[in-house]
Amino acid sequence: MPLHFEYHVPVRESGIDPVLLENRGVRLLKLLGITSHVSIVFMDDREMASFNLRYRKRKAATNVLSFPADPRGVGIPPELAPDDLGDILVSVETAAREARREGKPLNDRLTELVIHGLCHLLGHDHERSEEEARRIWLMEQDLFRQVQFSGRHTMLHLAVNVDHVATVRQARGTSEPDPVIAASICELAGAAGIVVHLREDRRHIQDRDVEILRRTVKTKLNLEMAATREMVDIALRIRPDMVTLVPEKRRELTTEGGLNVTGGRKKIGGVVEQLNGGKIPVSLFVDPDAQQIKAAGEIGATFVELHTGRYCDAPTRDEQEREFDLIRRSAADARAAGLRVNAGHGLDYRNTPRIAALDAIEELSIGHAIISRAVYVGLDQAVREMLALIRPPFAGT
Ligand code: PXP
Repeated sequence: MPLHFEYHVPVRESGIDPVLLENRGVRLLKLLGITSHVSIVFMDDREMASFNLRYRKRKAATNVLSFPADPRGVGIPPELAPDDLGDILVSVETAAREARREGKPLNDRLTELVIHGLCHLLGHDHERSEEEARRIWLMEQDLFRQVQFSGRHTMLHLAVNVDHVATVRQARGTSEPDPVIAASICELAGAAGIVVHLREDRRHIQDRDVEILRRTVKTKLNLEMAATREMVDIALRIRPDMVTLVPEKRRELTTEGGLNVTGGRKKIGGVVEQLNGGKIPVSLFVDPDAQQIKAAGEIGATFVELHTGRYCDAPTRDEQEREFDLIRRSAADARAAGLRVNAGHGLDYRNTPRIAALDAIEELSIGHAIISRAVYVGLDQAVREMLALIRPPFAGT
């Protein structure tokens, strides 16, 4: 590979995701047509300041420095071989400060700095003129957009929750609109799964819906339900492709929080065992919390679905950052513990792309935002618009 990465800072503690960065790096080289060697070194402020002083006579650290290997370039370290394009040095500490200030994930900021460094190595210089600076900025934005999703190990799936189609039907007690037909439209538009929550009070989805959906859904039917005897019997009879266990309170408007797996280990573990016995994989809807995730793995869940509600509803940017960070870490921890990871609740057309870019998550479960938008633009388009947000804007790797 013509790309060499070096980490002079502790990777995990710094929040660096090397797989994500290296996949993005490979993709960037392809996009830019670079075949010669490039080194990318992640370091702390102290090391960066020493390079800045040595080669640019500046005393402080900076975010990124590029050293083209071409003799006509500036500040070439003499040890570079002739087939090298050059070196890019990135300060992780400065990048982390910038990421916090700009409200973006650290690995996205690091990617932007690598893109900036590559553009310099290719001879683009934003200091030459305002016109050139603007052109380079646009090019960098475009490159970032193109590599944003290339760190993923697998394609992210969208599962559409059609409960609220049934909510509208139940408002009049008639047969329209039918969630079964809505589910088919979602699948035709590209959804990889259909989710329905059969609640104890049957306020939206009815038993008839689940029974017909079992026969008509061609992708994957995910039955959301409480861990009760009645629901387990229904699941074992209907045999959805998977079950997502959620806490359920009669008076709540929607599912309010994650399952308390640590507190209800015996009861939830028993239900997981029964469903697994019927060869139905189980997902536990949990808050992004290390203890809950650990317990989910211990009682035999196949998936966790991370509750994104607090991230979506965060009233301030700082809180949203904290919640995002919890989801990011929890997703990585769950994957490391051998669990598969889904996420959902409260996701809409604005807050979804950041969650979609998290490599460890394989599926998003989205309902209210898509069904609401469908009222204006139609269900087919509402699903396609969400897919366009969560999928990479290019084909292949
Ligand atoms: N995931 C779970 C476990 C849920 O309970 C719900 C709501 O039914 C969703 C995802 C979808 O949430 P929203 O309708 O806010 O997209």
